[in-house]
Order: sequence, then structure tokens, then C-alpha cells
Amino acid sequence: MKIIVCKDYEEVSKKAASIVIKEMMLNDELKIGLATGSSPIGLYKNLIEAYNNHLISFKHVTTFNLDEYVGIDRLHPQSYYSFMNENLFKYVDIDKENINIPNNDISKLDSLADEYDARLLGNQRDIQLLGIGKNGHIGFNEPGTTLSSETFITELSEQTRIDNSRFFGSLEEVPKYAITMGIKNIMYAKKVLLIASGKSKAKVINKAINEDITKEIPASILQLHPDLTVVLDEEAACEIKNLDYLNRI
Ligand code: F6R
Repeated sequence: MKIIVCKDYEEVSKKAASIVIKEMMLNDELKIGLATGSSPIGLYKNLIEAYNNHLISFKHVTTFNLDEYVGIDRLHPQSYYSFMNENLFKYVDIDKENINIPNNDISKLDSLADEYDARLLGNQRDIQLLGIGKNGHIGFNEPGTTLSSETFITELSEQTRIDNSRFFGSLEEVPKYAITMGIKNIMYAKKVLLIASGKSKAKVINKAINEDITKEIPASILQLHPDLTVVLDEEAACEIKNLDYLNRI
């Protein structure tokens, strides 16, 4: 595990983007697992800047998003389909055919997870970006999720719905369900890049990387990933006591 502590969100975004940019420069057909939420927005801004400066191209890149809400239309402004378009895709030369976001069409609910799993299985991601929920979720693998899960439809925890209500008008408008890659899908990526910033993530970051691996903190399974990089700002890192030791594992 490699833990990089940066001054603030801006530096986290730059550092995390530089890791992705390096991978893109080495492999123009990179397969990237993408996350949504507040954490990667700055990273995506840096990728757009690198694209505008002709450092990278998305032409042959393939992307796989972690999750999508179920129960709202794909074109809803808070769907992750819209998020990705607004925060990255519309600014770069990505081929629409190479964008994979879990389908949330409720008329096909029974087959959605298997269909996404089939796409993921044939496409090992070179790098998987992750944020972390205050309750330790990664993707929408909420506390208690089996650590060997593949893509599934999940009920969002109360904590997650409260946290994400900041993007919606009210708590009632936050969907109750989502489709998410499972932990097994996430662990299948060659590299994992976890980013977090702010004091509200400090306790869970310490639990995830420093304490026992447990279903109650799904992100703790990442300790077993052979190529994990964690990029944090000082606030998110402030509960970690043995940073030097962790960096040697
Ligand atoms: C988003 C996702 C979630 C978020 C997590 C943190 O695709 O899978 O696990 O990464 O909820 O969200 P933020 O970054 O908004 O704090």
C-alpha cells in the first residue's frame, strides 16, 4: 500500500490526476474504472486540462463506472450518467461506445447486474478510481455487504442517502436503490487509486487502512489489494498514526 498525504483537496486532485495521466501516457487503450461524487471532481478537471494541453487523449480509452442510482432516469441531473457527462465526458474525445455505466432501466431489473458483470469480466480495468463513504462504503457496497460480491442491486443505507441528499432537493428525492460493482469486481482491477479529503473522512480512512478487515467497513478489503495507492489531504489523514509503517506494507 502506498499512502500519499497532500496539503488540501486541490493537491489531492493534482496528485491523483498525475497518477492517471501517467497510466494514460503509457497505454492509450487504458481501461479505467471511474467514480462519481465530490471526491473525483478536481481530478477530472485536471484530466480535462491535460487533454486540452494535448498530453493525453481518451480516443481509445474505455471507462467503467462503479455505480448508478436505480429509480431515477439516466437523464436526471443527479444520475451518474449525467454526472460523468457534465464533469468529464463532454469535454474530452472519448468514444461513446467505450463508456460503460451500469444500466438502470427498471424494466430489465433482473438482468442488469449479470449484463454489467459480463462486461467487467472481459475487461480487467488497468486502474480503478475510488472515493469512500463516511460509513466505509466503496462503490455502493454498504456496510455488511459480502466481500466476494459481484455487481448487484443494493439498498442504500440511511447514512449514504443523508450524505447524498446535498446533491438533491431533499432526502425524499434521493433514490433508495442503486446498481453497483461488487467488491470482487473492484478488487479485480490491476491498480486501485483511493482518494479522500476532509475531516469527515478521517475516522473511516484510519479504519479502512489501519484496522481489521471487516464487512462493516467494506473499504478495509483494499488492504489485500496488491497495488493500492491512497491519496489523502491532511485532514483526511489526521487519524492515521503509523503512516511510515503502512507505507512499507
Ligand atoms: C461514487 C461512489 C461512492 C463515493 C463515496 C464518496 O461513484 O461509488 O462510493 O465515492 O460515496 O462520495 P464523495 O466523494 O461525494 O464524498
